[in-house]
Amino acid sequence: MEYAIEVFDLTKVYRSEGKEIKAVDHLNLKVEKGSIFGLLGPNGAGKTTFIMMLTGLTLPTSGSGKVLGYDIIKESLQIRRKVGLLPEGFGFYDHLTAEENLNYVAALNDIPKEERRKRVEDVLASVGLLEVKDRKFGGFSRGMKQKLGIAQALLKNPELLLLDEPTAGVDPEGARAIRELVLKLNREGKTIVLSTHLLFEVGPICDSIAIMNYGRLVLQGKVKDLLERLMAEEGYRIKIEGIGEVGAFAEELSRIAGVRSVRLEGKAVHVVAEKDIRVEIGKLSAKHNIEIVTLELQQPSLEDLFIKYYKKEGLSYA
Ligand SMILES: Nc1ncnc2c1ncn2[C@@H]1O[C@H](COP(=O)(O)OP(=O)(O)OP(=O)(O)O)[C@@H](O)[C@H]1O
Ligand SMILES: [Mg+2]
Repeated sequence: MEYAIEVFDLTKVYRSEGKEIKAVDHLNLKVEKGSIFGLLGPNGAGKTTFIMMLTGLTLPTSGSGKVLGYDIIKESLQIRRKVGLLPEGFGFYDHLTAEENLNYVAALNDIPKEERRKRVEDVLASVGLLEVKDRKFGGFSRGMKQKLGIAQALLKNPELLLLDEPTAGVDPEGARAIRELVLKLNREGKTIVLSTHLLFEVGPICDSIAIMNYGRLVLQGKVKDLLERLMAEEGYRIKIEGIGEVGAFAEELSRIAGVRSVRLEGKAVHVVAEKDIRVEIGKLSAKHNIEIVTLELQQPSLEDLFIKYYKKEGLSYA
């Protein structure tokens, strides 16, 4: 497996007014190349500090890490050349147009003059702002500003994009457009890390997530593995709807090994089991002459998972 990011015991301690704040506390994580990785955590969790350390904008207190194979302490210059960053607050000029702002950033990024025009047009098209390229940044909506921020991060055609709260302050429709943009960029082969404090932002689009709080990791893994784990812990919920005499069927069902509970609700039978027993259910229904209309494994949502682990940590759920 190739990783775009690997960090080992990465730690950042801020000292202010004689107090120590562990913004990032012995963080260990890996981000697979080609994936979309969601970094989730409430305000002050350490998301921005982590992203800043990856790009050499702040130095770790201890620990180490690699981004695209480069050392985050010794090779941050190479990293910044290859990584597109949407920082928390980006410094565009209000009185310049979208295109002028990007031209300026392109110049700062040493993109040769003859290539600039094309690159700027390409990234504007990529984020859907080509039509408004001549409008001044100051008059942009929050969502348009975020998109221009992403466009700026794309100028170097980076392999890896680090987006610090790309949908912050953006309305639901704008946020959806940004999520779709992230998916599109990922399909084009880019690895994307995005931070957010909103679960529903990352749930539908991320391959892996890490939940942070007080600088530490609360939970991390592939979304599908985490959901599988939740099902194993909480039980596999199976809903059966059938035509026929379900009473005796339900009774025998409750005696199958691994079945925790069986509940009748009208014509539906709800089963909670330690494993996926749909095959056994199918056999048993044949024995009882029950014609199965529905036999479905009810997948827990990422939200269920999040609530469970957030509660366990005593965190508030936003
Ligand atoms: N320059 C700094 N000096 C002192 N403390 C800092 C500094 N930057 C961040 N911190 C502290 O480090 C912790 C983590 O902050 P960070 O900005 O990384 O969190 P975050 O997860 O990005 O939060 P948010 O969701 O609000 O953006 C916070 O307690 C914050 O107050
Ligand atoms: Mg932040």
